[in-house]
Amino acid sequence: MPKAIIVGASSGIGRALARELSGEYDLGLAARRVDRLKAVGEDVGGAHVARIDVTEPDARDRFDDLVGSMGGVDLVVITAGIGRYNPDLEWEEERETLAVNVRGFAAIATAALAQFEATDGGHLVGVSSVAAEVGSPTLPAYSASKAFASRYLEGLRYRTADDDSVVVTDVRPGFVDTPMSPESDRFWECSPETAARQIARAIHKEKDVAYVTRRWWLVSKALGVIPDRFRADVM
Ligand SMILES: NC(=O)c1ccc[n+]([C@@H]2O[C@H](COP(=O)([O-])OP(=O)(O)OC[C@H]3O[C@@H](n4cnc5c(N)ncnc54)[C@H](OP(=O)(O)O)[C@@H]3O)[C@@H](O)[C@H]2O)c1
Repeated sequence: MPKAIIVGASSGIGRALARELSGEYDLGLAARRVDRLKAVGEDVGGAHVARIDVTEPDARDRFDDLVGSMGGVDLVVITAGIGRYNPDLEWEEERETLAVNVRGFAAIATAALAQFEATDGGHLVGVSSVAAEVGSPTLPAYSASKAFASRYLEGLRYRTADDDSVVVTDVRPGFVDTPMSPESDRFWECSPETAARQIARAIHKEKDVAYVTRRWWLVSKALGVIPDRFRADVM
């Protein structure tokens, strides 16, 4: 059975994706809240569990240890992320967002690529956001961090363009009903289960970029053509 690691599997999209991929992959689940990871593991019929805080200096070592304990990895999904509503531009909120979504994201992405390039290859999936495509007045670090994630994944995809054994997918959700999203019933909001199903489909199709749900692709295209004064109200 192929092996998959989900970093950020204790909640929301990552937890739903663990359920969606169970049975198809031997799973490794990582995040900070190990009790929750264990519960997800039991729910999916067993999984390898590791505490990884992506902001800590040992995050890559812990990731490598998890790969070692699983005997390799074929698929790595990075869903770990935070989004802090920050209209007052508090520095601590911005700093933490960048630590998780930029530095932490790159730490795990590079560790995954190193594993793939040292072995028979593999598939890296990063969960970015439609927010990557427009600056947010109330979550500026969040939207900028997602722009980083999408560009970073693009760079890794170009880097491995001549290597058919490595695939890189950028997943851009719109609104998903998880603990991260403060309001409910936002437009075109989907459940984490629907998001997980569509991410699994993007994985099977080895997509470069996947919008979740797929209709968010339309928003992305619209953002490219509408005047600036309307763009600010989108996300
Ligand atoms: N919900 C949405 O509307 C939406 C839209 C677009 C994109 N996204 C993206 O989707 C991804 C998943 O978000 P979600 O909505 O599922 O939110 P969520 O339910 O809050 O899950 C976030 C996950 O990230 C993990 N995480 C946070 N900080 C971490 C750290 N320092 N080290 C390791 N893991 C950490 C959390 O685990 P621990 O707290 O246990 O560490 C948790 O498993 C995020 O990247 C988010 O930006 C979400």
